[in-house]
Amino acid sequence: FLLAQNASLPSGANYDETKVAPYVLLDPLKTTNGGEITTVRAWEQARGRWISLFEENVFGTVPPGARSFRIHPRVTESDAPALDGLALRTQVEIPLTTTPIGPLMHLLLYLPAKHAGKVPVILGLNFAGNATVASDPGIRPTDVWTPGAKRGEPARLVPFDESKRGSQSSEWQVERVLRAGYGVATVYYGDIEPDAKTFEGTHGVRAAYPSTPGQPTWGALSAWAWGLSRATDYLLTNRHVNSKEIAITGHSRLGKATDWAAATDPRFAAVLSTESGKGGQSLYRRNFGENIAHLQHSFPYWFTAKFADWVGHDDMIPVDGNVLLALIAPRPLYVASAQDDLYSDPEGEFESARDVGSIYALFGKHGLGIDRRPPVNEPVMHDVAYHIRSGKHDVTAFDWEQYLKFMDQEFGSPLAR
Ligand code: GCU
Repeated sequence: FLLAQNASLPSGANYDETKVAPYVLLDPLKTTNGGEITTVRAWEQARGRWISLFEENVFGTVPPGARSFRIHPRVTESDAPALDGLALRTQVEIPLTTTPIGPLMHLLLYLPAKHAGKVPVILGLNFAGNATVASDPGIRPTDVWTPGAKRGEPARLVPFDESKRGSQSSEWQVERVLRAGYGVATVYYGDIEPDAKTFEGTHGVRAAYPSTPGQPTWGALSAWAWGLSRATDYLLTNRHVNSKEIAITGHSRLGKATDWAAATDPRFAAVLSTESGKGGQSLYRRNFGENIAHLQHSFPYWFTAKFADWVGHDDMIPVDGNVLLALIAPRPLYVASAQDDLYSDPEGEFESARDVGSIYALFGKHGLGIDRRPPVNEPVMHDVAYHIRSGKHDVTAFDWEQYLKFMDQEFGSPLAR
């Protein structure tokens, strides 16, 4: 099996399709007593039960203090000309608690300098600091997390390294997005919650809002998803932003957070999910690539405590990627895989995307309408879209090109308004 020899793939996972045991997907359209859901109304009623199952088994519950928190954003820069006249840049500080020492989120928003009316915006968390998403000297640098020097040492916050400015430009394609008439908003995920088993000091929203005893503890993925909703609270106050057209995007672990954010917050009008893999759009039930044991071993703090009970029982966990995506219906949903990203299990990602067609159909929307994965680099776009592109675990210009085409298809091009 040639692909399994790819040196960049994590070892200790199955990459052999012939070793995938037969599996049956959970059916979101089955009721608990074996009945069939055939109406939007019945589906809307069933949704709540699935959300609870995800909270209990995977993500945890957002504690009441965080749930009732209301933001008081401070706009530190508003509509400043940027990127050689292409954009207007806004930067906002959003404290995530009511105490002055609590976590503080920095939001960066670019809008196309030329726009007619309200602008659709694509929001996503970034991995390495706002100042990495574009080579723009005006983006305020903020502290970022760095792993401990030795294994087992806690992560710590360090000042932004100026040599990293713009280093994620190719993953973000900010100029391409702006030229297509869309705005782009981003927040450094470490502002919300550190991505580490241990870290120095007391940081993050999980420390600020401890879980209620007896309730499923919230994991970092849930914290990041909550942060995406708080970013949206701000976007909805911005008079240039089209409140009906805020899409979210995220890659990999941030894709998992994105999928969950969209499942729990109906204000996200579209989802562009890149290689969110196991824990996201892929299927636990397919024994291919990453599994629950791997996730739990490396990233126990991403999940609620009970997730650990499913180690070795991937086929028994009462939720799965197809159900997570079903919770996004009927909103436009783009699922993206990469050919060499076997750890995320592209086939599982495809099957989830295919499976949600039945939920979209309830709403009169169109699912993928194909049984088998399309050829590499040949997107299929209905109200659910899918592609598998050539290359590795990443976000590329190709991915963004398709996302923009899809947004145009679903909402109409902002350039034509
Ligand atoms: C690890 C993790 C994946 C995750 C990925 C990423 O590989 O095991 O589940 O998606 O990191 O965030 O890049």
